[in-house]
Amino acid sequence: MTKDQNQMWGGRFAAGPDAIMEAINASIGFDQRMAAQDIAGSRAHAAMLGAVGIISDTDADAIREGLLTVLSEIEAGTFQFSTALEDIHMNVEARLKDLIGEPAGRLHTARSRNDQVATDFKLWVRDQMDAAITGIDALMKAFLDQAKAGADWVMPGFTHLQTAQPVTWGHHMLAYVEMLARDKSRFEDARARMNTSPLGAAALAGTGFAIDRHMTAKALGFDRPAANSLDAVSDRDFALDFLGAASICAMHLSRFAEELVIWSSAQFRFVTLSDRFSTGSSIMPQKKNPDAAELIRAKVARVMGANVALMMVMKGLPLTYSKDMQEDKEQVFDAADNLMLALAAMTGMVSDMTANRDSLHAAASSGFSTATDLADWLVRELGMPFRDAHHVTGSLVAMAEAKSCELSDLSLEQMQSVHKGITDGVYDVLTVENSVASRLSYGGTSPTRVREQIAAWEKVL
Ligand code: ARG
Repeated sequence: MTKDQNQMWGGRFAAGPDAIMEAINASIGFDQRMAAQDIAGSRAHAAMLGAVGIISDTDADAIREGLLTVLSEIEAGTFQFSTALEDIHMNVEARLKDLIGEPAGRLHTARSRNDQVATDFKLWVRDQMDAAITGIDALMKAFLDQAKAGADWVMPGFTHLQTAQPVTWGHHMLAYVEMLARDKSRFEDARARMNTSPLGAAALAGTGFAIDRHMTAKALGFDRPAANSLDAVSDRDFALDFLGAASICAMHLSRFAEELVIWSSAQFRFVTLSDRFSTGSSIMPQKKNPDAAELIRAKVARVMGANVALMMVMKGLPLTYSKDMQEDKEQVFDAADNLMLALAAMTGMVSDMTANRDSLHAAASSGFSTATDLADWLVRELGMPFRDAHHVTGSLVAMAEAKSCELSDLSLEQMQSVHKGITDGVYDVLTVENSVASRLSYGGTSPTRVREQIAAWEKVL
């Protein structure tokens, strides 16, 4: 073997790769992030090879010990990663050979980089699913705390970003708890579905060695070995499941980020963000900008972009492994990093923000937000069909608008000029407090229902 030849497969080659080939081919620049998973997979594989007698116990022990040394070198930052060795799998194995010599060459018995990389990547993605679940839990708690603090505070509810009906702050905060609970369950579902071990599928066809795939699966925390070796090496659904769940979660974060941007503006003043999660302007001294919220709003673009990119990478690949699949990792790494950062930043912002009760109340009381309550009153008290009540209320809104006042500012005489049956009792339903209190239907915004939901979530979280 000449010194240019690859030490892993050089036997068949007369020359080493062109520098450009090396540059396009190497993944060590990014897949070194899977070093711990690679070493865990190799240690499980070596233990199994020893246990079933494919290699000697002495060799298995030497390999397992040597791999721990390699791991400690990587963790200490003293490990020399080599592009010529292409990826994390070959970097680790080559270093193992330096450390323990001949037994290192027995590690790759009954295994291929195809099942190896699938195993490493699954372990890495599984950790990220767990991290996402933990991160979502923390954010749900932050929203729940906000809901508790202002369970009955009244704010405007919007449709089309136009004032619709009064709602409670607690109800609005709990809407995000619901969304996040679905996000969490998507990660939990994906984790349960993906937890099968590719290790031992070898290149694609399985192996003639009498390996014990159940043993390695168990050692790595998988529920069982993947049942079809062709599928095991060519499956990246777990990464797509992760990116899909991450995209929807990031989209939810982005929607609240958008609300924070609007709510923290001088025109709304619904919330005050803490200094810890805001920035100033280099020219305008009065500015306090919601940069973290804006960045979270943008993060969904790259998470979703990763999802689309990996889908495109996979869509045209015949079974089984193709080198295209090496392009899976950077997308997932970037999406995972940014999702975790967005979750942490959102948790910080939600925990720190102060809702401005008076501004919320004032906004809830404007924009004829209790017009529906008035129409409902006409139905209930005067027996009017709802469509007629809607019409009468519309005329009253037009009158109030022309007088630049709210519905409750109209006198009884003015109201009776539109419909003579209207009585004094109507004023009761025009207050925002009575409006929210009346919405007692299951899932409705009344403080009574909100407090029940808070209690239920407190048990869960
Ligand atoms: N670096 C490769 C990857 O990330 C490892 C698998 C290589 N397998 C192969 N048959 N060339 O996918």
